[in-house]
Amino acid sequence: MNKLYIEGNKNLNGNVRISGSKNAALPILFMTILTEEKIKISNIPQLTDITIAIELLKSLGAKIKYRKKLLCIDTSSIKNFSPPYDLTKKIRASIWMLAPLLIRFGQAKISLPGGCKIGSRPIDLHIKGLIQLGAKIVLEKNYISASIRKPLVGKHIYIKKISVGATITIMSAAALAQGTTIIENAAQEPEIIDIAKFLNTLGANIIGAGSNKIFIKGVIKLTGGKHQIIPDRIETGTFLIAAAVSQGYITCCHTEPKNLKKVLIKLSESGAKIKTGKDWIQLDMRGKKPKSINVSTSPYPGIPTDMQPQFTLLNSISQSKGVITENIFENRFIYVSELIKMGAQIKIKNNSIICKGVTNLYSQNVFSNDLRGSATLVLAGCIARGITIVNNIYHFKRGYELFSEKLNKLGANIKYI
Ligand code: UD1
Repeated sequence: MNKLYIEGNKNLNGNVRISGSKNAALPILFMTILTEEKIKISNIPQLTDITIAIELLKSLGAKIKYRKKLLCIDTSSIKNFSPPYDLTKKIRASIWMLAPLLIRFGQAKISLPGGCKIGSRPIDLHIKGLIQLGAKIVLEKNYISASIRKPLVGKHIYIKKISVGATITIMSAAALAQGTTIIENAAQEPEIIDIAKFLNTLGANIIGAGSNKIFIKGVIKLTGGKHQIIPDRIETGTFLIAAAVSQGYITCCHTEPKNLKKVLIKLSESGAKIKTGKDWIQLDMRGKKPKSINVSTSPYPGIPTDMQPQFTLLNSISQSKGVITENIFENRFIYVSELIKMGAQIKIKNNSIICKGVTNLYSQNVFSNDLRGSATLVLAGCIARGITIVNNIYHFKRGYELFSEKLNKLGANIKYI
């Protein structure tokens, strides 16, 4: 069951319920290590990456119940500060265990994280931030060993490159440090706001999340609490593009339109009619082909790098020529060769993808290599002429809850084979 059979030539129409955000849920799960009291987290998406994160926490000794998107966790029983290599390697998010384990036990040892093949994905900024707060870090043979002799002390930290990952690591370490930490040039993603809200619910004192300067006044202890994960803005954007490329209309429910402002502007430029309510977005192509658009990815509030492959698909079947420029990762074009196999006219020049829209894409046997690229190939299969087979589908299961099932409800015909 590692392949999808996709019947093409479909219009995708209807309502889809958006799941909780993977990129907020994963760090929040690991931050539960910061307290010994019980925590309940709702709207956790059922994804492979989440399953691995739960296995990692269990392997350390946490007690977890997870049913119907509600997770109850008690980490008071954790005694181990070195998660197993095999699980840690499987997800990039495992780096977010480092700071919580270090704070809880005064030491932590984890292997370098794994994840999507979309670039070199260094972790130097995470490490630098922890060192500035007073941690000692040793890197050897694919392992990071961190230790502290005395409590971390708050600092003014300027992160030289905007990094979601490093902002999260520093926030989690600073929550229980002595004194105030200021993170400057912080990432402003909605997931950062959600994480700060979660930590504040447990008693942390974090102000400014969502801006480029975050103030964290360290507290002595974090307590238990309840938190609901925000909706996944990338899943939302992916379904909106599903409507745009299939000339259909889709309403995404249980989402947050304010987190997709720039994406919606681009989709309007492509000719889509967009309406929004408090927690829904509707995109209607009124049976028309999209117009090509120029897109340049950047940290939030810019266009997310996680939407770059989906916008490439949109330009592949649009009227005229459009340019997509990737500014976050250096190796995020692997899926392009598969779209070319399907008939797309795409050229890569440095970090830009130049698409000349074609009338139709055609069925192929394609291989996915990363999360967002694989979702894009599935959407391409839904609109191509004929039957497309998408291989290596475990990639999209890492980040999209019930993706093929949701698409089938919108009119797709996708089967596991
Ligand atoms: C990035 C995206 C995030 C997306 C995720 C998954 C940005 C700013 N971040 O987050 O929205 O959900 O990919 O696709 O768009 N970097 C370093 N050293 C570090 C950490 C990062 O040089 O220690 C670099 C990265 O190589 C990258 C940039 O900083 O070029 C942004 O990295 P970061 O935001 O941390 O990446 P992710 O957390 O993976």
